[in-house]
Amino acid sequence: MVGEQVAHGEELIRLNEVYKIFGPQPRGRAFDLARQGLGKNEVQRLSGHVMGLDNVNFSVNKGEIFVVMGLSGSGKSTAIRTVNKLHDITHGEVFVDGVDVQELAGPDLQAFRREKMGMVFQHFALFPHRNIIDNTGYGLKVQKMAKHERDAASMKALSLVGLEAYADSMPNQLSGGMQQRVGLARALASDPDILLMDEAFSALDPLIRRQMQDELMDIQDELQKTILFITHDLNEALRVGNRVCIMKDGAVVQIGTPEEILTQPATGYVAEFVQDVDQGRVIQVHEIMGALDPLDAKLSLDDAIKALGSRPGAFVVDESGKPTGLLTRDDATRAESMGSSDLSAALRTDFEVTAKTATLNENYQAAGRGLPIAIVDAKGVLEGTLDPREILEEMGRVETLIDGFEREVFM
Ligand SMILES: Nc1ncnc2c1ncn2[C@@H]1O[C@H](COP(=O)(O)OP(=O)(O)OP(=O)(O)O)[C@@H](O)[C@H]1O
Ligand SMILES: [Mg+2]
Repeated sequence: MVGEQVAHGEELIRLNEVYKIFGPQPRGRAFDLARQGLGKNEVQRLSGHVMGLDNVNFSVNKGEIFVVMGLSGSGKSTAIRTVNKLHDITHGEVFVDGVDVQELAGPDLQAFRREKMGMVFQHFALFPHRNIIDNTGYGLKVQKMAKHERDAASMKALSLVGLEAYADSMPNQLSGGMQQRVGLARALASDPDILLMDEAFSALDPLIRRQMQDELMDIQDELQKTILFITHDLNEALRVGNRVCIMKDGAVVQIGTPEEILTQPATGYVAEFVQDVDQGRVIQVHEIMGALDPLDAKLSLDDAIKALGSRPGAFVVDESGKPTGLLTRDDATRAESMGSSDLSAALRTDFEVTAKTATLNENYQAAGRGLPIAIVDAKGVLEGTLDPREILEEMGRVETLIDGFEREVFM
């Protein structure tokens, strides 16, 4: 995939020590209390001000999907709004592509928002009396782009979200999910570097929602946008995010890859969240992949058993490295006890095959057979083996980790 060749590294968005306090005197006593390290509830109790963001630090790299996840009121929307300066901040710095966002005003700010970013919200309102292509190109019209250019850009964006056939339809002819797609197309139409998505899929049915998540990831692979994605759903966060930032009471609790969040929750709060997640959906095969140590098809059964060592089984590969058979310890010893010395007679050919990027869940059923699973690349060449016991062990390990947190930490 194109996306995998692009280095995620260059920083595009950065929040430094950002505080946002709501109330009549945001820089007064409330801010002093916040700087002393008091949390949102105490600041509110003592000053009557609401702390929207509490010393938030994170950066979003070029080409990544960075997800901000947290419960209602945790500060997600406030955080995303600092990036396009829909909010002034109380303290700190926000940089986008090297630009100090707080310094922008007037036409500069407008141009910055228009050129750098597209936004998609939860309830995306279309203009009811404009057709889909005009709705998609509305932002470009505001920028005074000529009609034929605008339509070309809109059609391209609509095809990205699979709606090119609906260009001439009216909004009321589209389902809610399709209308939300138009919202995404509108954000894509001006081809911005950055997409800001605030609960963009949250109002959709689970099935449609999954489809939209898949499409977003496909679009991401193709176009390499930098996406700041907000959700209150941890499953969604772990599914679409390259990295996930978990917020609570305006503060960042943990930033990490989905695997890190799942397997190394930084606090009891995160661990409690993670408990509800289906681990197997997120952890990928390569994380528990065994060493690649295939057997030569020319070995005698005796030598193959020696080469097997303590492994429960190993694959035999042909000259091109493709697995042709599986020798399990049980099959080998049985054949040996029957006096056979022929390796090929002891091989199974009905083995299961998977890919490095498949999830544990996808291999759960196959693992139930209790046999090693072959991990192959796109050409069918063996890359490693998967011990079926590892799948269950890995899931169990995550559960143990979660149980290891003391109950009072959750409070
Ligand atoms: N304009 C405002 N005036 C006063 N308080 C605000 C304002 N906007 C947000 N807040 C407060 O700041 C905190 C963070 O709100 P924010 O909207 O960022 O939460 P959120 O994580 O996006 O929640 P949700 O999932 O409900 O959208 C909340 O306590 C909220 O009440
Ligand atoms: Mg919000």
